[in-house]
Amino acid sequence: MIEVRGVSLVYGSGPAAVPAIAELSFSVEEGEMVAVVGPSGCGKTSLLLLLDGLVRPTSGQVLIAGEEVRGVRRDVALVLQDAGLLPWKTVRQNAELALRIQKRRESVDGILAALGLSGFERRFPAELSEGMRRRVGIARALALRPRVLLMDEPMANLDSLTRERIQNLLLDLWWEMRFTAVLVTHDIEEAVFLGQRILVLTPRPARLREVLENPGMGSQEYRGSPDFLARVRALRRILGENG
Ligand SMILES: Nc1ncnc2c1ncn2[C@@H]1O[C@H](COP(=O)(O)OP(=O)(O)O)[C@@H](O)[C@H]1O
Ligand SMILES: [Mg+2]
Repeated sequence: MIEVRGVSLVYGSGPAAVPAIAELSFSVEEGEMVAVVGPSGCGKTSLLLLLDGLVRPTSGQVLIAGEEVRGVRRDVALVLQDAGLLPWKTVRQNAELALRIQKRRESVDGILAALGLSGFERRFPAELSEGMRRRVGIARALALRPRVLLMDEPMANLDSLTRERIQNLLLDLWWEMRFTAVLVTHDIEEAVFLGQRILVLTPRPARLREVLENPGMGSQEYRGSPDFLARVRALRRILGENG
């Protein structure tokens, strides 16, 4: 579904050039959920911007569903790091935003309900908890019924209970909606809970350092199991080696 072929990305040029991604290649199968981890500033957000067509590679190719990505696609949705809500719009209006930009009239009621936001449709972001705001951001993306869901640290800076609840919701929705997902996270346990495979990137410029298979992922019971804890340890070791 997603193919990244020898992609490099350099911001700017000349002496001020910042190489963000170098010779990166990987693919994600249809319906797969992949977690991406790597040191802060290594190029994770840049990778999502490339997949979403908001930034073009300096060299190499990004393909989605066999087509080179040349701009934002209707079937790809991005959840931003801070949910990206507009403070002057209600929960419903925020959740409808991506649909309306695509001139689509579908209802967001179902997805708001699935994310536990029924009854809050007329509230404004400032009236919500941070966890609810993040869920509105996820609802906005999933309202598109995307084939590909890209997420940039959607659970960062939440308390651990809220984070686990949203992780569980996301797992349920992934089973139900069967989207292909790329989840960027710096949370090792989150990567192991939600990634069928975990791509570990090097420090900037991002290259593929290691791919950790994680076939046990897929149920809430996985969290805390011996297999889960072993994967967490393995991933911690890989990341620790980088300093
Ligand atoms: N528009 C830009 N212009 C120049 N440098 C940028 C730009 N966006 C990001 N960078 C730099 O590229 C590197 C990777 O950034 P980013 O993809 O945001 O990393 P991450 O999400 O892994 O923290 C960082 O060093 C960052 O400062
Ligand atoms: Mg980032």
